[in-house]
Amino acid sequence: MNIVDGKEAVCRIEDFRVHYMTFDGPVKAVDGVNMEVYREETLGLVGESGCGKSTLGSALLKILPRTARMSGKVYLEGEDLMSKMEKEMQKLRGAKIAMIFQDPMTSLNPIMKVKDHFTEMIRTHKPEVSEEQALEMAARALEEVGISESRLNDYPFQFSGGMRQRMMIALSIVLRPALVIADEPTTSLDVIVQAQILQLMKEIQSHIRSSMILITHDLGVVAEMAHRIGVMYAGHLVELAPRDVIYYRPLHPYTVALLESVPNTDINDMDLDYIEGYPPSLLNIGEGCRFADRCPKVMKLCRDRTPPDVQIDEEHIVKCWLYADSFEEDEDNASG
Ligand SMILES: Nc1ncnc2c1ncn2[C@@H]1O[C@H](COP(=O)(O)OP(=O)(O)O)[C@@H](O)[C@H]1O
Ligand code: SF4
Ligand SMILES: [Mg+2]
Repeated sequence: MNIVDGKEAVCRIEDFRVHYMTFDGPVKAVDGVNMEVYREETLGLVGESGCGKSTLGSALLKILPRTARMSGKVYLEGEDLMSKMEKEMQKLRGAKIAMIFQDPMTSLNPIMKVKDHFTEMIRTHKPEVSEEQALEMAARALEEVGISESRLNDYPFQFSGGMRQRMMIALSIVLRPALVIADEPTTSLDVIVQAQILQLMKEIQSHIRSSMILITHDLGVVAEMAHRIGVMYAGHLVELAPRDVIYYRPLHPYTVALLESVPNTDINDMDLDYIEGYPPSLLNIGEGCRFADRCPKVMKLCRDRTPPDVQIDEEHIVKCWLYADSFEEDEDNASG
């Protein structure tokens, strides 16, 4: 187990890349990400649409399309996930690492009753558990998310959007995974139900003491939920810091622009759709800072070389040449 500055890293991601192979060349959706997720923390992952958040989240479970090529290292509780075969990954999914999707129906079987989803999940990982015990575990998990056990006999389509997401949360935590990845878990829900689900996720997380990567395009959601925030831009993790540092002392020009572009000061009403211009295409993208075309502080160097991950202090990392001590010193660190 990795202990980093007194904090235990449940998951460690090193120089991680996901390139989708297409006829026109590679789409470099995740390109050299380094980060750790600490035990019991919620790490918010934000960025405009298409910046690689879902790709990174799904890559950790190795549930990407066949065209995706991964490289780099991912350790979960010390286990090297990238070296694992599909059979071994099946044993980990649900048990050690779980995912909550935006639309739970995509990962539920419409012709299987709720109880069968639970018993299948539990008994795949714990064959020693009897059917009866599995049903008891399912009932307890449903109770934790505020659903009556009588609904075990229903089909997923009989649930409303919010209830279905509750059920998905129950299913994802029933085996107490070390890491839960929630990809836009409340985006398709109305505001009131969204608030209830976020509150529920907070309570559950403190109760089961898991770590969470919360993926969202909504700064209000991470402001509410996250201990630390990672800002992604065009396949790069451009800034990573505790929540308040990101909101009140951001350093990366993209993070600064993101926060300045929010039309009001209510951090509960922040959406990432307002920043001017567009991120670059990730198809065949080469060297250089990917924010260069939109950056008010761009220098010649920025277009030529990918900036290194600069460690500002123990908990603050920025991928930007403005903060690198010197070109030579950081040359070896420059990724891409
Ligand atoms: N199967 C795929 N083949 C090629 N490109 C893909 C595929 N899936 C996603 N992409 C591209 O990868 C990039 C990152 O996408 P995604 O991870 O979905 O971003 P986000 O979740 O931040 O919106 C985008 O440019 C997207 O078009
Ligand atoms: S590396 Fe250069 S272009 Fe990129 S964000 Fe920093 S200053 Fe701007
Ligand atoms: Mg996404």
